[in-house]
Amino acid sequence: MFTKIRWRLLLSYLTVFTSILVIFAAGVRLLFARSLTHQLTDRLTALGQGAATNAEFENGRLKVESDFIVQQLIHKNQGLQWFDTNGNSVLQQGNIVLNLPFSPSINPMQFKTEKLSILAVILPIIGSDNGKIIGYVRVSQSLEELDETLTKLDWVLGSSIIIALILSGFSGVILTRQAMQPIEESFQRLKQFTADASHELRSPLMAIKSNAAVALKYPEQMRKSDTEKFQAIVSAANQMTRLTEDLLLLARAEKNCEVRESSVNLSAILSDLLSLYQPEACAKKIDFKSEIDGDMYLLGNAGQLTRLFANLMENALHYTLSGGTVEVTANSVSSYLIVRVRDTGAGIAPEHIKLVFERFWRADKSRSYWAGGSGLGLAIAQTIAQNHGGSITLTSQVGVGSCFTVRLPSVKVSDRSEY
Ligand SMILES: Nc1ncnc2c1ncn2[C@@H]1O[C@H](COP(=O)(O)OP(=O)(O)O)[C@@H](O)[C@H]1O
Ligand SMILES: [Mg+2]
Repeated sequence: MFTKIRWRLLLSYLTVFTSILVIFAAGVRLLFARSLTHQLTDRLTALGQGAATNAEFENGRLKVESDFIVQQLIHKNQGLQWFDTNGNSVLQQGNIVLNLPFSPSINPMQFKTEKLSILAVILPIIGSDNGKIIGYVRVSQSLEELDETLTKLDWVLGSSIIIALILSGFSGVILTRQAMQPIEESFQRLKQFTADASHELRSPLMAIKSNAAVALKYPEQMRKSDTEKFQAIVSAANQMTRLTEDLLLLARAEKNCEVRESSVNLSAILSDLLSLYQPEACAKKIDFKSEIDGDMYLLGNAGQLTRLFANLMENALHYTLSGGTVEVTANSVSSYLIVRVRDTGAGIAPEHIKLVFERFWRADKSRSYWAGGSGLGLAIAQTIAQNHGGSITLTSQVGVGSCFTVRLPSVKVSDRSEY
C-alpha cells in the first residue's frame, strides 16, 4: 500500500516539477527570442537610417549618392532596397534582396521564403529641403544566425530539463521514502495496537461468556427476566468475540504477507463450505447451486482462504431473499483460479461498489451491528485475496443481484506439496 502511495507522490512531484521547468524554459526562450529580434531590428533601423540620409531627390527622381559605399556597411546576409513614394524599386544592394511588393504598413515584418526566414525594416526617406517623404528604404536580413542561436538554446534548455528531471527523480525517491517513513511507522504501531487490543480483549470476553453460560445452566434458580438478561449477555459477548477476531485477523493478515507457504486444495475448501451453508440456504428457500472444477491448487493459507469464501457465501445468502438463487462457480483460466459467487439479492448501487470493501462500511446504516455482520467481512476478504497475490472485484445491479469474482494465482498439480 505504501509503495503505491510513494510512487504516486513521486509521480505528482515530477509532474509538477516538469510543468514548472517547461513553463520556465518556454518563458526564457520567448524572452531571449524577443530580445534578439529587438536587437536585430535596432541594427537594421540604424543601417536603414544611414542609407536614407544618403538618398536625395533630384530632377523628380530618387538618387543614392555615389560616394555611399553600401558594401562596406552591410553584412553578407543583409540587403538594402530604395523605393520612390509610389513603391517602385529605385536601387537594390546586398545579397538578401526581397522580391516582395513594397508596403510600408507592417513594420518591422517577418516572413519566410522557401529557404530562409527574413526580417525587414522599412524607413521613410525625408527630403532635406522640404522635410517631406521622398521615398523609402527597406533593410532586410536573413534570420539564419538567429535561428541557429535559438536552436542551440533549445538544446541547452531541453538537455537541462532532462538532467534536472533525472536528478530530481533520484532525489524524489529518497525524499518520498524519508517523508513516508514516519507515516509508515505510525501505521504499523496503530495496526500493532489493534492486534494487541483485540488479543487482550479475548480473555475478558471469554470470562463474561463462560460466567453467563454457567449461570444459564441452572435457569430454574433464576427469574425469567434474569434468564433473558443473561442470554443477551452471551449473545453480545459472542458478537464482540467475533468482532475482535475479525480485527485481529485484519491486523495479522495485513502484517503477514508470507501466507503463501503451502499448497492448498481450493476445490476441497469450496466443497466443504458449500456443504456447511447448504442447510442455511434450504432454510431460507434459496437455490444454492455450484459448479466447481476439481484439483484446483494454489499456494496459501487454508484458514484464511476458507474465511474469504465463507464471507462471500454468507453475504450472498444473507442479502438474498427467499426464492432467490446463489451460485458458486470455480475454474482455472491460464495461471489463475477464478471463483465467482453470484446472487440474485438486493444488489449494490454503483456509487457503493468501491465502498463495500472499506472497513465497517455497510449499505444499511440503520441496521444495528448486532442484527448482522460487523461490516468487516469484505475488507477481510479483500486483504486475504491480496495477500495471496490475487484480487477481488464486484459487479452488481440494484434489484438484480451481485457477482463477486476472486482471482488467485494457481499452482500446477505436479508442482504442489501435500496439503
Ligand atoms: N451479496 C451482497 N448483496 C448485497 N449487498 C452486499 C452483498 N455483500 C455485501 N453487501 C453490502 O456490503 C456491506 C459490507 O459487507 P461486509 O463487509 O460483508 O459487512 P457485513 O456483511 O458485516 O455488513 C454489507 O453491509 C452490504 O451492505
Ligand atoms: Mg458480511
